[in-house]
Amino acid sequence: MADQEELTEGARFASSVPARHEPFPLKGCGALDWGMQSRLARIFQPESRRTVMLAIDHGYFQGPTTGLERVDLSIVPLLLYADALMTTRGMVRSTIPPAARVPIVLRASGGPSVLRELSDERLAVSMEDAARLNASAVAVQVFIGGEFETQSVRNMTRLVDAGQRYGIPVLAVTAVGKELTRDARYLRLATRICAELGAHLVKTYYCAEDFDTVTAACPVPVVMAGGKKLLELDALTMAYRAVEEGAAGVDMGRNIFQSDDPVAMVRAVSAVVHESVKPQAAYDQFLRR
Ligand code: R5P
Repeated sequence: MADQEELTEGARFASSVPARHEPFPLKGCGALDWGMQSRLARIFQPESRRTVMLAIDHGYFQGPTTGLERVDLSIVPLLLYADALMTTRGMVRSTIPPAARVPIVLRASGGPSVLRELSDERLAVSMEDAARLNASAVAVQVFIGGEFETQSVRNMTRLVDAGQRYGIPVLAVTAVGKELTRDARYLRLATRICAELGAHLVKTYYCAEDFDTVTAACPVPVVMAGGKKLLELDALTMAYRAVEEGAAGVDMGRNIFQSDDPVAMVRAVSAVVHESVKPQAAYDQFLRR
């Protein structure tokens, strides 16, 4: 039984000290509900305010991608080094160890395979199931300029409405069709539309010119998409430039899991993203693995 006197009276009111309130210091997230901020704080490291998200969701439209044939063997050993894992609910339930402490960014749209028109996606996961899986965020593809542009935007806005109810942030992934140019003008348009319509964070490609205007014009965090496999030094250089030009980290897949040494590569990317290590130094670190 607790001592009643100690319970009823306390002296540590610190009346002269203003009450502390510290929103998670991430771009655009200060007005979000506590649950949203808490989930974002799992994905983004508080010190750097950046993330290294490992994307392995490719199978949702293209099947067993090179490097992802056996996620249990190739990806599970990487989980220690990633800040978040972008994947599907099928892969989470079948393969990702529940004890892995990596936050899950759950792919929540899908439908067409690589054999069909990719922009014809629908929502593919309910927010209730995302909550059941303890997802830290959900991800939806948005095809600005694509054949099913409006439908994909509608997928995103419905997901944002559900995310608001459950306190689960929505990552809008700006998909670039074969016919669209990945220049700053297009990427500004796509990322800004996603943010204006409620996405809590946006994934987009890097462009060599004026990428800083893409991140500046987007009021929520932008994470850089990896894209096709590059030489390691080139991938590290792209990641370095992206964060120097305002990205809040990266969401990379093939450039990590298709590397000759995925553990060394994810660690090198992490050094670039979180410690601003220069690309050549990070590459030297990669070679010394
Ligand atoms: C693309 O739109 C999907 O989100 C991908 O499946 C994935 O995230 C791409 O990753 P990366 O291009 O870095 O391999």
